[in-house]
Amino acid sequence: MKMCSSAFWEVFPSTGRIRNNTNTKEYTTGIFPMLQKPRGTRDFLPDEMEARRTIEWRLREVARRWGYREVCTPEFEDLELFTMRSGEGIIEEMYVFTDKGGRSLALRPEITASVIRMYINEAKVAPKPLRWCYFADCFRYERPQKGRYRQFWQFGVELIGADTAPADAEVIMLAADMLNATGVKYELKVGHLSFMKNLLKDLEPPAQRKVMAHLDKKDYDSLKATLDAMGKPDLGTSLLSLVRCRDLSEAFGIAGTIPGQERIQQTINTLDAAGIDYSLNFGIARGLDYYTGMVFEAFAENLGAENQILGGGTYRLAHLFGGDDTASCGFAIGFDRVMVSLGETQHKKDTVVAIAFTSEGRNHALEVARSFRNAGIRAEMDLMERALSAQLAHASKTADFAIVIGQREAESSNVTLKNLHSGEQKTLDLPAAIAEVASHGAGR
Ligand code: HAM
Repeated sequence: MKMCSSAFWEVFPSTGRIRNNTNTKEYTTGIFPMLQKPRGTRDFLPDEMEARRTIEWRLREVARRWGYREVCTPEFEDLELFTMRSGEGIIEEMYVFTDKGGRSLALRPEITASVIRMYINEAKVAPKPLRWCYFADCFRYERPQKGRYRQFWQFGVELIGADTAPADAEVIMLAADMLNATGVKYELKVGHLSFMKNLLKDLEPPAQRKVMAHLDKKDYDSLKATLDAMGKPDLGTSLLSLVRCRDLSEAFGIAGTIPGQERIQQTINTLDAAGIDYSLNFGIARGLDYYTGMVFEAFAENLGAENQILGGGTYRLAHLFGGDDTASCGFAIGFDRVMVSLGETQHKKDTVVAIAFTSEGRNHALEVARSFRNAGIRAEMDLMERALSAQLAHASKTADFAIVIGQREAESSNVTLKNLHSGEQKTLDLPAAIAEVASHGAGR
């Protein structure tokens, strides 16, 4: 067997001393600084995970009702998948590494490119359209701040192979339905890239990108400076009118005749007929490079600078990855930002029943715990061999109800149920005790 040559630490529990295999020096435990998680990542304690799962399942449920089925792709991909459309510049914003076989890989900064790669690899002949969704973590090498992390989760959907106004409208309606299901307060903005692109059509692609990047960042001073330097100050005036415009016919007036005018009108009509709460915004440029038409973003009220909680639009990527040119439309919800925006409001904690018992009651207590769990109620038993009074003291800090099982209860079919919030105590048969706890919202 080949021995691993890397360093390891040997711990001697009897002496509390530690030795590194690469040098013979021994250290006393406790002298090392406490290890911390990597910058821009977070740990989630059980309360937070319960809250996150509650919201995640609401999103899953809406996706299911609209027919979007879950897919899963690798956490890392060939670097090329992400640089092919966006260029090498994007490497700065990613976690990129070379594996032992010399392959250049990247932790996924988003999931859309992976989903389209998977579609071409695995499902390009499947009946269209494909309705897919995902809930997955992404990695971006960004400067961390509130709402901006280096590891974060997206709940996204991709509608692949439908190139129509009803398809665009469906994805936007689904976005609204999902955000509504979370309870987050948000503003939805819908735009279309054709307006901006029509105004910029005389610029070379790199110049177009530069202008779009200023618009995406809403950096209008740099926009003006760039256009002045290009000798196009009038373009700045039209672009700013477009950014401020909130009316479709007015936008057509500013941008001139644009391709797909009817489709845009039809999409907007569908959103209006469905009563979707949105505003038009023709200044949406989207940071990612693959969007082609309809674009939309949602913003939460209470998040400060990093307040965009959803982004998406129509795009074309399949032809770049070796497939046929396929129209797609999708979005991703920034799940962590939604959770920050919701704060503590959305989470109802699980009801906990502590099964406290004396040594004579242990076997009966195991049976009682099993009955509560079979009814879908969280039941916990002492593992520390504490006395009954100490078990109840612990339960008062960790549980909502206590079931007390002493010798008397072990010999009868009744249990003593104590409400640890009100102090009320009742002797009941087991089904009645379970029903009483369930009536407080616990269980199935
Ligand atoms: P995106 O706008 O880059 O779009 O990301 C979607 C959402 O992810 C953002 O609106 C934001 O809420 C969240 N997000 C982005 N970066 C971070 C971060 N560093 N920390 C926390 N949250 C973040 C996409 O990724 C596209 N793939 C969306 C899409 C799907 N377009 C079509 N299909």
